Amino acid sequence: PKPNGDPTAMLMKSYACQRRTPLKHHNSFLTEALEILSQNAEYNDNEGRSVAFRRAASVLKALPRRVRSMQDLRCLPCLGDHSQRVIKEILEDGSSREVESTRQSEQYQAMKALTGIFGVGVRTADRWFREGLRSPDDLIRTGQQLNREQQAGVQYYDDLQKPVTKAEADVISDIVEKAVHAVLPGAEIQLMGGFRRGKEVGHDVDFLITHPEEGKEEGLMPKITNWLKEQGLLLYQKTTRNSYLEKMDGPARASSNMDRFERCFSIFKLQKCAVSCKLSSTASAEDVSTACERERPDEHHSEASGWRAVRVDLVVSPYSQFAFATLGWTGSKLFERELRRWAGQEKHMSLSSHALYDSKQNLYLRAKTEEEIFAYLGLEFIPPSERNA
Ligand code: GTP
Ligand code: MN
Ligand code: MN
Repeated sequence: PKPNGDPTAMLMKSYACQRRTPLKHHNSFLTEALEILSQNAEYNDNEGRSVAFRRAASVLKALPRRVRSMQDLRCLPCLGDHSQRVIKEILEDGSSREVESTRQSEQYQAMKALTGIFGVGVRTADRWFREGLRSPDDLIRTGQQLNREQQAGVQYYDDLQKPVTKAEADVISDIVEKAVHAVLPGAEIQLMGGFRRGKEVGHDVDFLITHPEEGKEEGLMPKITNWLKEQGLLLYQKTTRNSYLEKMDGPARASSNMDRFERCFSIFKLQKCAVSCKLSSTASAEDVSTACERERPDEHHSEASGWRAVRVDLVVSPYSQFAFATLGWTGSKLFERELRRWAGQEKHMSLSSHALYDSKQNLYLRAKTEEEIFAYLGLEFIPPSERNA
């Protein structure tokens, strides 16, 4: 039972996975500032500091109203001295000097531009920054050695910087569904990531694919990508069997979310008319994906062209792990991180996108639904739309 009246008397739980965090909240003027400091700490390889700022921001996202004074923060967890100083300054002066100088700094801006390239992590970006490079153009100008992924990242940089809309994600969903059903009838496809949490835009579109008959999903990914390639829908793809061994940027960390599913990082070629077509009519998936076949080919890539590049992540999971994969790929990243921390620290369990292991009982816990996993963890079920921690 919630005490009424004083909002600060509201009991705020300290793990993000114990709270409901809606997409739209009342404190973006504070959370955006704290997230800049978090991002900057990540650029400086200071993970502890980065997570501390992110947790502080997340607590403010879960508040039922706008913070107006430091009094409103009494009794809230996860707000360290530094975060409180920043919040105080914003409440009093309208902005924080530290946040503004970070935002303006050459390092922050260059790291943002460089890590914004598909295939470039913090380590690589930092090395380039120390060599004097600041932007994708600098990489081209100085003829930097790039791997295949980074080449695609630079080539499609402008498109990939533009947010993907829900309408675009829906068209991509139709295409992925068509591809998967063409090569494996009966397979199930689920939209994951930010769009499953109700976001209106994203940096990519994420899908999880499975088949109710365990084993049928084996070797599925190459069949899907070949089908897409034959249709001319793929600009880039890289399939990895085991992400543990293929860590993109330096060795995997203990906290890393990497898993062993068959996974494909790709860039789709999306016809813009398919999106307007889908928005403005009741056309079926077939109509939409074939409507643009007479479109001109891609002689030049520009604003005027009839297509755009979109990042798409595909993951294939065995049916027995589907609930864990669903929970693990819905996000947000902080929500996932907090779930794993809760499992380990509070329940002596180990949660991954594959399984939940109970160290006390020495056994793996089976689950068919996300609800069952929350129940094993002793957590109230939080629906995807309230996992925007
Ligand atoms: P936007 O794409 O920016 O809109 O946000 P998002 O929440 O969809 O982020 P993203 O596409 O990066 O990741 C989607 C979810 O997949 C998040 O919960 C991540 O934690 C998770 N995820 C990403 N990469 C991996 C991975 O290699 N392994 C696992 N298990 N999860 C991952
Ligand atoms: Mn995503
Ligand atoms: Mn993704």
